[in-house]
Amino acid sequence: MGSKSAQGDRCMSLKKAATAVREKAYAPYSNFKVGAAVRGASGAIYSGCNVENVAYPEGTCAEAGAIAAMVAAGETKLTEVVVIADSPLPISPCGGCRQKLAEFGGPDTPVILLTVQGQEQVTNLAELLPGAFSTEHMEKS
Ligand code: THU
Repeated sequence: MGSKSAQGDRCMSLKKAATAVREKAYAPYSNFKVGAAVRGASGAIYSGCNVENVAYPEGTCAEAGAIAAMVAAGETKLTEVVVIADSPLPISPCGGCRQKLAEFGGPDTPVILLTVQGQEQVTNLAELLPGAFSTEHMEKS
């Protein structure tokens, strides 16, 4: 198997994980189910869905769930992200999730945004969060 198709296969399993976990989303208030999957540096896949709450601000995004699963498994680096929703155009991670993903990924980390209908947009963390707040900003001047 060539490296390109191996890469495609790897991405496919991440897409499958995000697609499957989306069905589990608890979204009775927005009726907008989101699935996310991240690949840890070990190669393992972690997935998460949005979990809403009657106290609306207490709801959590799919990306946050996937990141929490990764960290709970002992990993703190991610190499690839997939997010999927039933939206007219590929889902765009919210600002908070961009910062959460940037905590564990690098600027070149690929982020694949999908619709359940099959539209796809490939971007990366630097494009999603230009000028990200980082530890550099906390250094004393
Ligand atoms: N949502 C996510 O899970 N991820 C995003 O990047 C955008 C929004 C969820 C939060 C809420 O449960 C629903 O989508 C509508 O905002």
